[in-house]
Formats: sequence, C-alpha cells, structure tokens
Amino acid sequence: MLVLGIDTSCDDTSVAVYRADTGRVLSNVVSSQYEFHAPFGGVVPEVAARRHAEQIDAVFNAALKEAGVEPKELNLVATTNRPGLLPALLVGLTFGKGLSFRLGIPFKAVHHIEAHLLSPFIGREPPFPFIGLVVSGGHTVIVVAEKLGKYKVVGKTLDDAVGEAYDKVAKLLSLGYPGGPAIDRLYRSYRGELLKLPKPKVKGLDFSFSGIKTATRRLFEQGAPAVQVAASFQETAVDYLVEKLKKAVKEVGVKRVAVAGGVSANSLLRERLLTLKEEKGIELHLAPLEFTSDNGAMVAYTGYLRFLLEGADPLTVGAQARSPIDEG
Ligand code: KG4
Ligand code: ZN
Repeated sequence: MLVLGIDTSCDDTSVAVYRADTGRVLSNVVSSQYEFHAPFGGVVPEVAARRHAEQIDAVFNAALKEAGVEPKELNLVATTNRPGLLPALLVGLTFGKGLSFRLGIPFKAVHHIEAHLLSPFIGREPPFPFIGLVVSGGHTVIVVAEKLGKYKVVGKTLDDAVGEAYDKVAKLLSLGYPGGPAIDRLYRSYRGELLKLPKPKVKGLDFSFSGIKTATRRLFEQGAPAVQVAASFQETAVDYLVEKLKKAVKEVGVKRVAVAGGVSANSLLRERLLTLKEEKGIELHLAPLEFTSDNGAMVAYTGYLRFLLEGADPLTVGAQARSPIDEG
C-alpha cells in the first residue's frame, strides 16, 4: 500500500511517499520557508500560506519522482488538518482532498502532534504503552500513549513552547530564525563558564518557559556575551525538559519513552536522554534526525495506522487551529 503524506501546518511544505507493507519511506521532500519569516523573527501565517500555495505542486512532484511512483499508484492520502496555523493548514488540506477526489482513493486527516509523537516508530508497530515528550516550536507536552488514538496529556507548557523560547532568545541575540540550531551550535563551540538561570517552579509535570526567557534577557542586558547567554539558556532549558521527563517516568511508572518534535534534534537534549537511558534503564525511542522537524513521512505513517484502525475520513473534514491531542 502506498501512502502519500502532506504537512503544511507551519513553515515547511512537506510531502512524503510511504510504502506501508515494507515500512519504508520512499521519499520525504521538505521545502522550508525560513528565509521568508526570518525578517519577522517568527512565522507569519499569511506569508506561510502563500508560500505553501506556491510550493505544494513542486514538492508533490518531487516526492513522487524521488519515490519512483505515479499518482495513480497511490492508495491513500493522509494530510495534517490540526492543530496549526489555519491559513497554512488549509493549503495542504485542500490539495490532499483534491487529490483523493481526483484519484478516487481514501483520505485521512491527521493530528500533527500525534504524528510527531509516533515519528520515532515510522516503519514498524508503535510499542504501546509509552510516555511521549513532544517538543517543537508550537508544543511542549508529555503524553501517556496507552494505545493508538488513546493519549493522556500529563504535562504541558503553561506559556511558551520550548522551541518558541529558543526562537525568541535567538531573536534577542540576533542569531536569526529558526533559533534552535543556531543556539545549539553556539553551545557546542562554547568552552567558558555557564551562568546560572533559575528554573521555574511549576508543580507536577507542567512546564513554563517565560521565566527562563526573562532571566536570559536580563543576563544579556547586563552585558554577558551572546555566546555565553545562548549556552546558559540551552543548558537550563534542556536540564528542565529532562528533569520533567524523569519525573513523568517515576510518577506514571512506564519505562518506555519516546521523544520527538523539532527540538528533539537538539544535540544536548539527545546526549542527556542517552545518559538518562543508561542511568534509569529506560527504553528510549528518539525520532530519527530527519523526522524531528515537520515532515510528510510522519503524517503518512500516522494516517495509515489510523486508517487501519477506523477507516477513511469524509472530504468534508475541516481544519482546526487548536486541537489538544487528548480531545481527538
Ligand atoms: O517540529 P517543528 O519543525 O515545528 C513545529 O511543529 O513547531 O519544530 C520547530 C522548532 C523551532 O522552534 C526550532 O527552533 C526548533 O524546533 N529546533 C531546535 C533545534 N532544531 C530545531 N531547537 C533546539 N535545538 C535544535 N537543534
Ligand atoms: Zn511540528
């Protein structure tokens, strides 16, 4: 079975072809819009939508070509319809539904966070139950995944997502957009002392990043060099994520952990998670680097699993800007 996966929920136009019977991703083409949003220091929804509309045909054609597949060979179209930037989501959704209608094949609408959550398992059966940490530009959640489609949010950010905090700190330090990779690189190059930033005292498994962000700004305004500020921010943010995850493992009592989303590409986070795995005997599943940021492969994979579980969606299905993962 050949599944097409489409994602236009934010600032990447992504299309992938997934062969479900062998579990192989035949192509995964991503066209990023970074340079269009860089002047604004963040994603502008209308700019994103216009760029998706300009790019989607070319990205679709490139994905089919790379996979060596003709449109008529496709068996299922899966497209992200929630959550995300509404104008951006609508471009992929309209394209996906149009394709499904034209080819006479089923359509499946996919939840973007569920797709990130399952991305460490692309190509095989997800091993439920597990604890999932999804860290991206729009989301920071800890989820208990009991079975396919049954997720319980046990922790979430009360303000900024961790990726958003990365992007705002990078903007403050004039490092460009997106901020995560730039800050990560500075951290790696820095050999000096790390400054202490207070970690927010939020109860339970919830997060807050606004305090870390403000403390980071203060350091910079007090004259600390940008590289030292960036490295100190990363040390604190990553420490904080790992601390909460450790707490979740203890409280939930599940030792299988999956970590995904754009920020899961972070080299320090991956390093600290591997240490946690050794120390606590955790079964760790990290999203492969190529599937950490937004991509069509995770959408094709998740759409396929949900299609097997509950069948296709009608072409009347709409897009939703907000949609907690435990509410469908
Ligand atoms: O999952 P994603 O591509 O899009 C959303 O669904 O939001 O995540 C994008 C986020 C951005 O905030 C970006 O700065 C962050 O992931 N990011 C990183 C790294 N690479 C990307 N953050 C920290 N370290 C990285 N290496
Ligand atoms: Zn995402």
